[in-house]
Amino acid sequence: EDTRLIDRYGRVARDLRVSLTTACNLRCTYCMPAEGLPVIPRDELLTPAEIARLVGIGVGMGIRDVRFTGGEPLMRRDLEEILAASHEAADRALRERPPSDIVRFAITTNALGLDKRAEALVAAGLDRINVSLDTVDHAAFAALTRRDRLDDVLTGIRGAIAAGLSPVKINAVLLPEVLDGAPDLLAWALEHGCRLRFIEEMPLDADGNWTRVDVVSAADLLERLGTRFTLTPAGREDPSAPAEEWLVDDGPGTVGIIASVTRSFCRTCDRTRLTAEGTVRSCLFGNEETDLRGLLRSGASDEEVADAWRGAMWAKPRAHGSDAPELPSDAFADTARSMGAIGG
Ligand code: GTP
Ligand code: 5AD
Ligand code: SF4
Repeated sequence: EDTRLIDRYGRVARDLRVSLTTACNLRCTYCMPAEGLPVIPRDELLTPAEIARLVGIGVGMGIRDVRFTGGEPLMRRDLEEILAASHEAADRALRERPPSDIVRFAITTNALGLDKRAEALVAAGLDRINVSLDTVDHAAFAALTRRDRLDDVLTGIRGAIAAGLSPVKINAVLLPEVLDGAPDLLAWALEHGCRLRFIEEMPLDADGNWTRVDVVSAADLLERLGTRFTLTPAGREDPSAPAEEWLVDDGPGTVGIIASVTRSFCRTCDRTRLTAEGTVRSCLFGNEETDLRGLLRSGASDEEVADAWRGAMWAKPRAHGSDAPELPSDAFADTARSMGAIGG
């Protein structure tokens, strides 16, 4: 009997992304409205014990990478507890497996306040981090995030490196207003030993303003970076990695591009997602969600929860379609959650 999280197109999930909150201390325009997202009432959020139980059930079905996202995962003051409990649940689920089977824990964060928590997070079992940072230009950062906190973010990244979370990956969403600053951002990343990846903007902004013609493409970026660096294609880290890598000036530094729109990678997608309220979201763009929190709270067994999760994954859509020129841009305007409520 196949216990894996498999869909009707044969893709198998081994990467779990858990959104922990919709709260954030920045307001990136591509992710959130100026006023922020509605606050989820406390009793509707998954607790650390519930998250850990779901992580354990996921690991039992083949999950080997777990990433906590948001909103901003550091907004949860119990993030250390969530990590420690999840780590323990993963170890328990792996007990009968060969020792080479390990589960790695990551967060995707804006790095605000990370310098103060990095050591505790590592002690709780955090293996690696991805930081969202689109520009190192103060004015552009303040306009884009609607908060003037670039220096605090850079301090957070330095603190994470000092705590041993190196190499830090940096995610930069490719927006028209940060394209000019892309070479400076790459220079900063190389200097600090960070692995920078640029991301084509997907139609998940809160205001529904996305249009395909405005997307800054991987090709636009390569042209801009080419004015300062020599880039040599280096392929993907592994077949299901979202980023294609380029060697910068013969290495060892690299830069990656996640071309979600112009070269989508749905065919090799190995992700499953949980929202902060405990529903399974099989795809960023799949609006159907399956409630697991209700099952947990009504006393369901691990096997019943696993069955519901597998059912949700079986219905995973084949592809998101924002790469399909025959679909109008407003085909995505009804995405019920913006990025800030899915966690990327
Ligand atoms: P690594 O394991 O470090 O490669 O993490 P990651 O790149 O999967 O995660 P991260 O949170 O850093 O996300 C980087 C970008 O990839 C974000 O823009 C995500 O929205 C995007 N991304 C992650 N998963 C998916 C996915 O399933 N589909 C699409 N289209 N984009 C995704
Ligand atoms: N399109 C693409 N990437 C996005 N992110 C947030 N919103 C979008 C969007 N509309 C990225 C952020 C974050 C990651 C989880 O998702 O850079 O690092
Ligand atoms: Fe906050 Fe991240 Fe969304 Fe920016 S992209 S508003 S840092 S959750």
